[in-house]
Amino acid sequence: MPDFQTLLAETDADGVLTITLNRPDALNALNKRLVGELGQAVRMARTENVRGIVITGSGEKAFAAGADISEFAGMESLDAHRFAARGQAVFSAIENSPKPVVAAVNGFALGGGCELAMACHLRVAAETAQFGQPEVNLGLIAGFGGTQRLPRLVGRGIATELLLTGDRISAQRAYEIGLVNRVVPATDLIEVARQFVLTIASKAPVAVAMSLQAIRASDLPLPQGLQQEAALFAQCAGTEDFAEGVMAFLNRETPEFVGR
Ligand code: COA
Repeated sequence: MPDFQTLLAETDADGVLTITLNRPDALNALNKRLVGELGQAVRMARTENVRGIVITGSGEKAFAAGADISEFAGMESLDAHRFAARGQAVFSAIENSPKPVVAAVNGFALGGGCELAMACHLRVAAETAQFGQPEVNLGLIAGFGGTQRLPRLVGRGIATELLLTGDRISAQRAYEIGLVNRVVPATDLIEVARQFVLTIASKAPVAVAMSLQAIRASDLPLPQGLQQEAALFAQCAGTEDFAEGVMAFLNRETPEFVGR
């Protein structure tokens, strides 16, 4: 287990790896160290005993209040470019995870915090959570994928409004625009996120991974996306789990998937 300073990472008996951003005094702001450690923690999910990931923030106030603004003073263009590229790479590793990743948004998800939630496959929000991309207030734009993932998730019109006004929105509003999948009482947040992971982990693992890959291909023009879908469908058909799933259905049994 790596020696993390800015986050906690623990795999429970059900195989859910919970990564908790742990800088509550700075509202879990994403400093360079935390971004690096997050990349390391996500790699921990490669081991067989991990079935999926929940990402949350420590304390009741924030999931993450964005990039650490104290590291911005004196930052020049070259540093800024490296910083954005590094954050984007870590967030893409989250998005590309073959195992489900669920954000449990326990409070402010602003700037990089909102971008982190969007890089996760699914988002559960506490009723008290707030979302926003306030970078324009600092003379910046979102740099960890926000200008790309927000329009894809909620449509260009509402994304433009959020990215240009920097306005914060409630969890309920985030639900209405499709930014989050569920809004739940704060006390239920982690359990609902865990159950999301466990439900998905009970399905055929290769089919889950292929679904995620096919969903990512929806960024491509439709004919290419459809080609990808057919190719991934074919890959699933070559798995033991496909044979097991079909036989179990026909025999009215519960399938026992082996992940190949
Ligand atoms: N980077 C670094 N530190 C941050 C931070 C960030 N993004 N967001 C909050 N903090 C720190 C504050 O400086 C403060 O530290 P201090 O106690 O040492 O003074 C602490 O977290 C608590 O924040 P505070 O502003 O006092 O809490 P609040 O309840 O009054 O306001 C927010 C909460 C989230 C509205 C406010 O902190 C905020 O606007 N943060 C910046 C959000 C942002 O612009 N993110 C995008 C960055 S690109």
